[in-house]
Amino acid sequence: MPAKTVRKKSAKKVVKKVAKKAIKKSTLYEVRRSRIQGRGGFAIKPIRKGQKVDEYVGEPISHDEADRRYDDNDGRHHTFLFVLDDDIVLDARYGGSDARFLNHSCDPNCETEIDNGHIWIKAIKSIQPETELTYDYRFEWQDNYEPEDIRYYACRCGTKKCRGTILMVPRYLKETARKWLAGDDVKKPRKPRKKTAVKKKSATSKKRRTAPRR
Ligand SMILES: C[S@@+](CC[C@H](N)C(=O)[O-])C[C@H]1O[C@@H](n2cnc3c(N)ncnc32)[C@H](O)[C@@H]1O
Ligand SMILES: [Zn+2]
Repeated sequence: MPAKTVRKKSAKKVVKKVAKKAIKKSTLYEVRRSRIQGRGGFAIKPIRKGQKVDEYVGEPISHDEADRRYDDNDGRHHTFLFVLDDDIVLDARYGGSDARFLNHSCDPNCETEIDNGHIWIKAIKSIQPETELTYDYRFEWQDNYEPEDIRYYACRCGTKKCRGTILMVPRYLKETARKWLAGDDVKKPRKPRKKTAVKKKSATSKKRRTAPRR
């Protein structure tokens, strides 16, 4: 029906306008081939420490939708997802800015800052032109990860401080992770129990301690 067609067209125009507004190019860096992986962002002007370099924009989706879109079992880890909070993930494959091309480094020159629902890439050092812009992805460690998972998330930042993986490995697993990355699949140590806060001695706690055990 003609009326429907007209409505559809105008809706499309609105979407295009929003997307155009979101993808504003930063004048501070450009995307080129990177030694770390694929493409990356490189400074084309001196960048001051603390300066906002770009905003990470993309389609806001739920975590479930992100899992549906990207299968972790396809061989190599590669997505343009950024976790905004417990509910929302930004998928920069759709309507994303160049910030989606910034690679991870274990010794980065940028960091991300979430402010009022916006994700900003901010310089944490002064950066000279031609330098690759990086931030620490700090991917969350899952307790069920095995050696192949850590190798799946292997890091190629090449810095002296490289931890070998994009994942944030818990302290008690650091040595194990190092061995796994080297191909030595040693057994995973038990997760240490969380220390419970020491309670102040009180009449009630004394009573509890002396109560019979079942
Ligand atoms: C948001 S993309 C970054 C842009 C990517 N280089 C490209 O050309 O599309 C994130 C992906 O890049 C790769 N990547 C980024 N930093 C990396 C690093 N330090 N080591 C290995 N792979 C990295 C991983 O595959 C990661 O999932
Ligand atoms: Zn690294």
